[in-house]
Amino acid sequence: METTMRNLLALGLAATVYAQTCQVTTVATTPPATGTGVELSSYSYCGGSLNVSVFIENVNYNKVVSLYYTNAQNQSTPLSVISLGYQNSIADTNYETWGANTPVYIDGVTELLNLTYQAVDIGKTYTQILDLAVTASGAPAPTLPSPPKPYATPNDFQNTITKWLAVEDGSESEIAFTRMFLNIQPAIPGAVNGTVVAARSGPSYDQKDPDYEYDWVRDSSLTMEVVNTLYAAASKKQKSAYESILFNYAAARAFEQTELGLQTGLGEPKFYMNNTIFLVEYSADSPPHIGPWGRPQNDGPATAAITLIEFANAYLANGGSLATVKSKIYDSTAHPEAAPVQKDLLFVASNWTSSSFDLWEEESSDHFYTRMVQRRALLQGAAFATKMGDSATSTTLSSAATALTATLSQFWDPNRQTLLYEYGPVLRDKSSYLDIAVILGVIHGYNNDGVYGYTNDQVLSSALRISTSFISVYPIAARHKDASGHTLAPPIGRYPEDVYNGVGTATNGGNPWYLATAAMAQFMYSASSSYTSAASLVVTATSKPFFDYYAPNAKVVAGQTYSKKVNSKAFKEIISALNGWGDAYMQTIRYYTPANGHLSEEIDRNTGVAVGAADLTWSYASLLTASFARAEAKGDNQYVRKLANVGVMPNT
Ligand SMILES: *[C@@H]1O[C@H](CO)[C@@H](O)[C@H](O)[C@H]1NC(C)=O
Ligand SMILES: *[C@@H]1O[C@H](CO)[C@@H](O)[C@H](O)[C@H]1NC(C)=O
Ligand SMILES: *[C@@H]1O[C@H](CO)[C@@H](O)[C@H](O)[C@H]1NC(C)=O
Ligand SMILES: *[C@@H]1O[C@H](CO)[C@@H](O)[C@H](O)[C@H]1NC(C)=O
Ligand SMILES: *[C@@H]1O[C@H](CO)[C@@H](O)[C@H](O)[C@H]1NC(C)=O
Ligand SMILES: *[C@@H]1O[C@H](CO)[C@@H](O)[C@H](O)[C@H]1NC(C)=O
Repeated sequence: METTMRNLLALGLAATVYAQTCQVTTVATTPPATGTGVELSSYSYCGGSLNVSVFIENVNYNKVVSLYYTNAQNQSTPLSVISLGYQNSIADTNYETWGANTPVYIDGVTELLNLTYQAVDIGKTYTQILDLAVTASGAPAPTLPSPPKPYATPNDFQNTITKWLAVEDGSESEIAFTRMFLNIQPAIPGAVNGTVVAARSGPSYDQKDPDYEYDWVRDSSLTMEVVNTLYAAASKKQKSAYESILFNYAAARAFEQTELGLQTGLGEPKFYMNNTIFLVEYSADSPPHIGPWGRPQNDGPATAAITLIEFANAYLANGGSLATVKSKIYDSTAHPEAAPVQKDLLFVASNWTSSSFDLWEEESSDHFYTRMVQRRALLQGAAFATKMGDSATSTTLSSAATALTATLSQFWDPNRQTLLYEYGPVLRDKSSYLDIAVILGVIHGYNNDGVYGYTNDQVLSSALRISTSFISVYPIAARHKDASGHTLAPPIGRYPEDVYNGVGTATNGGNPWYLATAAMAQFMYSASSSYTSAASLVVTATSKPFFDYYAPNAKVVAGQTYSKKVNSKAFKEIISALNGWGDAYMQTIRYYTPANGHLSEEIDRNTGVAVGAADLTWSYASLLTASFARAEAKGDNQYVRKLANVGVMPNT
């Protein structure tokens, strides 16, 4: 028995009113006999949190321990599972204590079903059937917190940001452009054409930690997508430099696909800069093994295909030949050494139902981000295969896309009013189920067809929930204005429970990321553009809280349509507020960008200093895509072309 005073105080409740004790049920006080594997020690469901303690036999290194339970509806779902973590080893035994203390009040819990312990290295699974009824004790379970009240109401585009992103010497967008291209086909030993180094941090650079000196399939494809946007916009004589980089990229991707030793097929996530597979030498007298990593990551084949399909379409539109597109981009059957797209697309079509690791490389599950980019790849791929005269592949891709689309509705969680970043058990204490990956999934996976786009009410609700979740987490979020009085939007990280600090993990170590903050800016601009081109918007009960936070002066009513013609004042107010918040996110990036304009991975949550991998390529790519979305929202259709015509020089 123990009191919950501390928890109550943390929740801000009056301890004198609610103080009650947790009812802890102890099932076993000492570990079981050797060979049992797993046994429940104790549990409680107190103040909305399920706290369990379990004995786990130390039979191998990689252990996955899950507790299955039923929710308040007596149902067992992929969400009513908790993943347990190591706590301590028990002296004089071969057992360890594993446990979790996870808020589950949103789904509720009625019964503990079973414990499952997978000893991954030896392929053995131990289970204990529990069937134990659970009763709540302690303080009343909290309810889903409401989003906070807005602390500012920024409006319209800001001149400081227009200037900061202008196409002119020394502006941030020129710095981002230059620094991004330094990392493409970088001048480091062994780097081959068509690869992208993830950051200037690793053995070849001044900064050694963390070691990001690899070609990540995801990061490279998202970077090359920016190169393609520049290629498509550049004037004729500037196009060739971009074009050769993109053809090199296609060849590099094809090379990766044919690497021997791919353990999980095309979902292999990272390669050395010479484009060979990531190996680790454990000792001088054993052959190198494939390096341990979270694999597969099945978003990579999808985003690689999207980028190259878009490049092929732009190349054809520019007068390029169909034969070249087939032999250097599409036709993996006839040109496996050179053309990667068909192979990546067929991999997505046949593997999208498999769980895979997420874009943060942390959890194997079914991820919204991964499904969204896979969907876009399949739909774009089906149209492209038809263009390539490959109707069999087109049919395969279309039917996979239809089946995949039917699964997307499972990600909406009405109890949490958010799209779940994954449909699976809580891992790493991410019990909020909030992750900027959902917004990145829309940015990189929306196929312009009305399915989970910028104006979808579930997407808007998710954007609100995730973007405001960091306000209470990061001390620097308490700063609301820069020295000139410009509104700073809340800095955005990956997810509120994050503990990665850019080099390792630490309690309260998770930081805001430049690319996550840029994603919110881009989201605001793109929502603004979508509404402007539709000339109207509908507010639902689901999206109303988004507008109440981001456009409070519009005083929207659920069920109401706002249009440019009929109620133009409120409509204009909303567009102006979205643009204003887009710029407020940009102001946050600007405020925390060092004087030299270089963007690393993260911003220290306490000091605001840039930390983590130096010159993260994706940080630059995300700043550029956000600035392209800003130009579109502003109606500036020359911006991308001007930046593209700055031109790119080979790295030597
Ligand atoms: C969770 O349960 C364990 C074992 O009973 C206990 O030692 C621990 O203090 C509990 N944690 C919380 C936060 O209640
Ligand atoms: C869940 O099951 C228990 C008994 O197993 C029962 O008492 C309870 O009413 C059920 N709750 C719901 C919501 O069905
Ligand atoms: C544990 O419970 C889950 C969820 O009901 C079920 O799928 C699984 O088969 C159970 N495991 C065992 C060994 O009974
Ligand atoms: C690498 O690409 C550059 C152009 O981007 C080209 O000049 C060079 O010849 C290429 N090198 C190889 C080995 O293909
Ligand atoms: C590729 O690069 C890695 C890391 O630098 C190195 O260990 C490996 O030997 C290289 N492979 C080839 C074929 O050059
Ligand atoms: C799907 O993935 C598996 C490996 O996970 C691979 O063996 C298989 O070839 C993949 N399918 C396609 C069409 O690439």
